[in-house]
Amino acid sequence: MSVRALVVDPAAAAAVRLAEVPDPAPEPGQVLVEVSHASLNYGDLNDARSGRVPEGAVLGSDAAGVVVQAAGDGTGPAVGTRVVALTAGAFAECVAVDVGALAKVPKGLRLAQAVALPVAGLAALRSLRAAGLGPDKRVLVTGASGGVGRFAVQLAARAGAHVIASVGSTARGEGLAEAGADEVLIGLKGLERPVDVVIDNVGGPQLVLAWGLLAPGGSVQSVGWTSGQPAVFPPYATVGPAKSLTSFVIEGDVSADLAVLTELAAEGALGVEIGWKGSWDRFEEAAEALRGRRIYGKAVLEVASGQTRPR
Ligand SMILES: NC(=O)c1ccc[n+]([C@@H]2O[C@H](COP(=O)([O-])OP(=O)(O)OC[C@H]3O[C@@H](n4cnc5c(N)ncnc54)[C@H](OP(=O)(O)O)[C@@H]3O)[C@@H](O)[C@H]2O)c1
Repeated sequence: MSVRALVVDPAAAAAVRLAEVPDPAPEPGQVLVEVSHASLNYGDLNDARSGRVPEGAVLGSDAAGVVVQAAGDGTGPAVGTRVVALTAGAFAECVAVDVGALAKVPKGLRLAQAVALPVAGLAALRSLRAAGLGPDKRVLVTGASGGVGRFAVQLAARAGAHVIASVGSTARGEGLAEAGADEVLIGLKGLERPVDVVIDNVGGPQLVLAWGLLAPGGSVQSVGWTSGQPAVFPPYATVGPAKSLTSFVIEGDVSADLAVLTELAAEGALGVEIGWKGSWDRFEEAAEALRGRRIYGKAVLEVASGQTRPR
């Protein structure tokens, strides 16, 4: 038996093609999920080209759908439960998912929204936590128009921080003030007062500037590097009162944090902005739009399984 999936193919447009792959074989601590939606992350685009996901392997990290087989060890959700997951090989009609990598999707939250939460929401939540978020802190979010950025702006604002959202153009700043940003800047233009936290999605020269704006005791969380440019620090830029630049990656069990995010989204306390939604047949179009900085928030792929189950 096989399922359809988007696999890495360096010769294909966007380095991805639809293919038949073997049915997943769940281990005892895994459930089988029939996937209805997946979300496309900037990191997936990198993975397809960098070799991190090898040729022929299934791409993707965010999946949502319905459990069709419970875990063999008796843990995790029952058959029929709607779930969202952070899992390698998410772009497939059916995936085996560790019970520690998923959360139930509460009533009132559609799977098409929930699927936007794992990579982008967890990166925002955990990088803010690692930086030591608190009321009255000045938090700078770079690449604030994107997936991680829009969640980081909202979560920092909820914690009572003064939020500065940095975007590439006036148009890209649309909706960020409503999401909780106190200031929306093009690049770092006009930012003169020090900041306590930087959630950096862009890297390159902007990271160097952000470092220069960081207050003593402050923290830069290096979440991403969409600029693709090197960061060149001037001599002595890193000498002075203690402050930190920390690398960031999502690690370990994510189910509790994913549950926090799905609950917030279900209550309407965390907005999920979906800037592109369409069939996974249109992957190339979605990838081009994401790379071209034309998506506000998240891109969601609809996975056609050909089966009919309640969503
Ligand atoms: N470490 C981790 O665990 C982790 C987790 C999630 C994501 N990430 C990384 O974090 C970054 C953001 O991910 P995402 O999914 O939020 O991506 P996204 O939705 O594409 O958003 C990224 C934002 O970066 C800005 N940007 C894009 N290209 C740029 C360029 N050439 N120069 C300057 N700014 C540029 C864009 O803002 P404007 O159009 O407004 O300029 C865009 O909205 C990526 O590098 C991703 O790989 C890492």
